[in-house]
Amino acid sequence: MWEHRMEPRSEHRLKWAGILGTGISLPGNIFTNHDLEKMVDTSDEWIIKRTGIRERRIIDKDKPLHQLGIEAAEKALLSAGIGSEELDLIIVATDTPDYLTPSMACLVQRGLSARNAAAFDLNAACTGFIYSLAVADNFIRTGYYSYVLIVCCESLSRVVDWKDRSTCVLFGDAAAAVVVGPVDGNLGIISTCLGAEGNLGHNITIPCCYISEEDLEKRSGERKMTLWMDGSEVFKFAVGIMAFATEKIVMDSGLSMDDIKLIIPHQANIRILDGAAKRLGLSENMVYSNIHKYGNISSASIPVALNEAVEDGRVALGDNIVLVGFGGGLTWGAALLRWAK
Ligand code: COA
Repeated sequence: MWEHRMEPRSEHRLKWAGILGTGISLPGNIFTNHDLEKMVDTSDEWIIKRTGIRERRIIDKDKPLHQLGIEAAEKALLSAGIGSEELDLIIVATDTPDYLTPSMACLVQRGLSARNAAAFDLNAACTGFIYSLAVADNFIRTGYYSYVLIVCCESLSRVVDWKDRSTCVLFGDAAAAVVVGPVDGNLGIISTCLGAEGNLGHNITIPCCYISEEDLEKRSGERKMTLWMDGSEVFKFAVGIMAFATEKIVMDSGLSMDDIKLIIPHQANIRILDGAAKRLGLSENMVYSNIHKYGNISSASIPVALNEAVEDGRVALGDNIVLVGFGGGLTWGAALLRWAK
């Protein structure tokens, strides 16, 4: 279905960029499957069996999402040993910004007093972290910028229809951040690849300033600007693209699957991870999963998992790891990192 196109080779880079520090911030409010049983016609058993999710975090009603992002960013800066005034650029990847303007990135810049940083938001839905990493890598490898902060934050609880059992059980809220900066040659971000299938975009929609008649009809609740998804269409796309993108990024990097220590995929459904792993002939312990704790937290999913994998000692200096994701748009992407910290 997807054609393999070689990405620009890494020899062309002037500099190497890598992740210097990570941080996360999770809402304290834990919402379990049993809590959902009281709201919609569902069961703990169904949700665990069909998705792998046991609980998710929900942001406080009066807390702005960018505040969660700032908390994650402060931890990432501390872990990188970088002061906020050293940042050249802040990218916030999100599907659920507090405001369209000011952008989340400007709100984070203000909160961090990162006065030397340019700032913009990037929307690639659940693939937002991979897209942002590719942007940061290209700014740094050309020498244009030295330090880029990526913040991925999501408050999906604010856009789901809490009466729609086919979607409300799946999503959660969270923030994660990484600082990307210069590293020694042959370490850090080895390659990235990005893709989009706009013709399939109608399968996940969150309207904003406009909604078409067709999308209006799909929503039965009173609130119309909510998330709607055709789960089985997205599922089919997800399994295929996760396997394809993983193989592609390993090949683009001039490596084989045997060289890979860990795969950290977007956490949308445990059956998608198992399906992709099966296609690739990978053992379960090569594929990181924490979906049981957080559900689908969109762009924050991969960087939260990465932060955990590092803290759990699953990633060490020099290890090759694959980050791979897909999401609304539809979008997809992968990155191969040789851990540089
Ligand atoms: N609790 C109980 N039953 C539910 C339910 C819930 N929360 N949600 C749906 N069902 C029911 C359906 O109504 C259907 O009932 P029916 O057979 O009587 O019609 C049955 O369960 C099967 O529904 P189906 O949609 O076929 O389930 P599924 O096994 O495909 O799982 C998803 C649904 C959404 C979990 C799955 O399709 C999925 O994960 N898709 C990918 C979504 C994704 O990755 N999105 C994020 C993109 S970044």
